[in-house]
Amino acid sequence: MEVIIQPTQEAATAVAAQFVAQLLREKPRAVLGLPTGNTPLPLYRELVRMKLDWHRVTTFNLDEYVGLSPQHPASYHSFMHENLFRHINITRKNIHIPDGMTGNIPGFCEKYEQQIRDAGGIDLQLLGIGVDGHSGFNEPSSSLASRMRMKTLTARTRRDNAKGFGGMAQSPHHVITMGIGTIMEARHCLLLAFGRKKAKAIAGMVEGPVTAMNPASALQLHPKVTVYLDEPAASRLKMKPYYRWIFENKPSL
Ligand code: PGA
Repeated sequence: MEVIIQPTQEAATAVAAQFVAQLLREKPRAVLGLPTGNTPLPLYRELVRMKLDWHRVTTFNLDEYVGLSPQHPASYHSFMHENLFRHINITRKNIHIPDGMTGNIPGFCEKYEQQIRDAGGIDLQLLGIGVDGHSGFNEPSSSLASRMRMKTLTARTRRDNAKGFGGMAQSPHHVITMGIGTIMEARHCLLLAFGRKKAKAIAGMVEGPVTAMNPASALQLHPKVTVYLDEPAASRLKMKPYYRWIFENKPSL
């Protein structure tokens, strides 16, 4: 796992954006896995600003709320449209976001995973992390071999998301999410985390045991993971000087 620590969120986002931009230039037909939430917002803004060519890129979003129509302002369909898709030249049919209104969740999930395989698999999976270590909406205790399915959110996650729904009472309980096993099949995972409130989850993910109680820790078993952090998110890492030294002294091979 490569851990890249930058002084600020802006600096970490800029380095991550350069990485994504390079992939899109080298592989115009790249397949990206995309997250929602506050964390990737500046990254999406930066990618928009870079005016990249998205025409042949394919995307698969990680998750969506069950029971929410794509038009609902708090849906991840709306989020992605507002914050990324409407600003870039992506081909609409290449966008995939789980359907929260499907009447057949298991069937939908099976088909979505098949679509990922048919697209050649995910080249780069962008990820955030929850304060409890969730990745996608794979809450603590999720199977580390899980596939795409419906999940029930913890009270903590519902509280974190309540703002978009006008309060806890309306905050959804259920989501469709790629599983940890699905995420682990991406060829490269790029995880972003910012702020002190993520420090504990990051310390567990990078330096703790692999455990379903911090589902993102499964990434320790993935062959290619890059983690972009600001100083506060990195503050509980024991091997911080080592990670910094590696980044600053990388041989140009
Ligand atoms: P956030 O959410 O980016 O809004 O902090 C991350 C997550 O829940 O995965």
